[in-house]
Amino acid sequence: MKGGARPAARAAELRRLVERANHAYYVLDKPEISDAEYDRLFRELQELEAAHPELRAPDSPTLRIGAEPAEKFRKHRHLVPMLSLANAFTEAELVEWEERNARLLQEVKGAGYTLEVKIDGAAVSLTYEDGVLVTGATRGNGIEGEDVSANLRTVRDMPLRLAGKAWPKRMEVRGEVYLSKSRFAELNAERERAGEPTFANPRNAAAGSLRQLDPKITRRRGLRIFCFHVEAPGQKLPVDTQHELLRQLAAWGFPVEPNHTLVRDLAQAHHEIAQLEARLGTLDYGADGVVVKVNPLRLHAELGTVGDREPRWAVARKFAPEVQITRLKEIKINVGRTGALNPYAVLEPVEIGGVTVSTATLHNFDLIDAKDIREGDWVEVTRAGEVIPQVLGPVRERRTGKERKFKRPERCPVCGSKVEYPSDEVMAYCSNVSCPGRVFESIVHFASRGAMDIRGLGYERVRALLDAKLVKDVADLYQLTPMQLLTLEGFAEKSAHQLVDAIQASKQQPLSTLLYALGIRHVGAQGAKLLARQFGTMKALRNASVDEINAVRGVGEAIAEAVAGFFDEAKNRKLLERLEKLGLNLKEPAAADGKGPLAGHVYVVTGTLPSLSRAKAIELIEAAGGHVADSVSKKTTALVVGADAGSKLERAKALGVAIIDEAELLRRARAKP
Ligand code: IVH
Repeated sequence: MKGGARPAARAAELRRLVERANHAYYVLDKPEISDAEYDRLFRELQELEAAHPELRAPDSPTLRIGAEPAEKFRKHRHLVPMLSLANAFTEAELVEWEERNARLLQEVKGAGYTLEVKIDGAAVSLTYEDGVLVTGATRGNGIEGEDVSANLRTVRDMPLRLAGKAWPKRMEVRGEVYLSKSRFAELNAERERAGEPTFANPRNAAAGSLRQLDPKITRRRGLRIFCFHVEAPGQKLPVDTQHELLRQLAAWGFPVEPNHTLVRDLAQAHHEIAQLEARLGTLDYGADGVVVKVNPLRLHAELGTVGDREPRWAVARKFAPEVQITRLKEIKINVGRTGALNPYAVLEPVEIGGVTVSTATLHNFDLIDAKDIREGDWVEVTRAGEVIPQVLGPVRERRTGKERKFKRPERCPVCGSKVEYPSDEVMAYCSNVSCPGRVFESIVHFASRGAMDIRGLGYERVRALLDAKLVKDVADLYQLTPMQLLTLEGFAEKSAHQLVDAIQASKQQPLSTLLYALGIRHVGAQGAKLLARQFGTMKALRNASVDEINAVRGVGEAIAEAVAGFFDEAKNRKLLERLEKLGLNLKEPAAADGKGPLAGHVYVVTGTLPSLSRAKAIELIEAAGGHVADSVSKKTTALVVGADAGSKLERAKALGVAIIDEAELLRRARAKP
């Protein structure tokens, strides 16, 4: 331990240092320490908490890596209801809104308004007590939401403990959790490559990620947050206006959307909103309007709400999604990792929502037929707040007769092999397993975040490596040398070494990650985890029959057949042998699931145990193969009770569930199975 500091003091210092580094990196975008230094501090804190479980604090950054999965979410009642916003679709509607308010309260005119970007994500409410995050919840029905604290703690730019002072003792901070457009695109590309269903838009992806029962999955999604509102009933806020509140939120450490402004009146608001609207599309997060808020907080209280639905003091100025007409020059096809042919439109470049669009997805061949989209057509294209531009359909009136009907290819556009059209699917596939289009996509997938996570190996470098014939498959990556990379454009001494180091480091990834990275059809991150946990080693999985794989809980027939099919191919078996020789880790660290003395048993923990913290108790039960549930049911093996046990004890008694203490739990967990 550093300088002989006491564990408690050192833990507090480490929490502060790590969180400061997080804030500098994620919120201020100005890193203060190196990644290595960060990792060192983080690890020291983890070790300290492991050795002294009593030092674990609700604001510890170690919670950001994600707690254990939950069975279901607890309900959370909001201190103050979470409201929605009224909409104004035109300038005139904004004027009507002001007039209605002015009839109630003359002062509204001339009091000033803030304009804020309306973030399109999932609304959350964060409860802070004495400056520490205690609960984070979804909106739910506005009165009651779900407690998703464990997931929200994985949101990297979310403050676990507030900076500065003068925060109300207990307050609810309202904000919007979102997925950046770039991360969304990356995530969908990963999912597509893994044969998993893609998300329709960043909002759905954010909302879905927030409600994952496994916080580690949430963490990998890479959610972010912006905050904009505070409820602190009966307490004084250190600010008088919404504009000051935004600044105060930032000073407390919350990420605040930077494009907000203060205007005197609606005339100025109209002007500024038009400026903002033009910029919305260029932001890396979905924005579906501009929120106009009366600036003095005192007037918020006086204006009040309409029912329990909407505040009078705020309104969302919304814009119709922009649609542009442009020429579809050509329909091209990209070959995905699974060999799926993905048609897309090459467009005459056109600006939509501040972004130049030159390609748009056409999804599949059926859709092209259904909409009768032809090469040379004028087409309507929109981005509708979404990331991927869409072709809505042709403008038939502008047809000249020279448009060309699209013909489904019989041969793969990349390698010329036969195209297969399975009768039960909308997608078409290239039949050549070594099609260069597939090889390219499979290497990109292998290296991607969520898979082997090889930093610095993206589309362009994979393309360059293939073009230079330095690699033909993923195993070749592990034989690359800095010298070879230096022969490529865009590499210098340092970057070449960095990439080789990153590739070598990925050898340590667990079996589950490798299985996912190999891109076996239907095997997503989740399925890979189940398989790795069940079989433990690549060898055991390779030797398993379809039935044995199918028998794994959560693994369906499609996965089982795909996995068996994968190992049946001599080419794949050879690849795995090479990966093994190259030193890749083909094992999953033991997570005693299904084995151990408590296997098949469900425990519930309540009250304060004499020596184990709650987290330690859960860890112990799970390490012994048992399962921990949140509430007592007939399926519960036993309730572990400590001091001050509450209603769970009553319920266990009523259901006749066994009641044990910590000593008994320890005895059972250590028993021979
Ligand atoms: S103010 C009482 N400000 O939009 C406070 N909301 O459609 C009402 N939203 O539930 C919300 N950005 O989740 C406000 N700058 C912003 C916002 C914003 C996004 C969301 C929020 C709200 C929904 C209403």
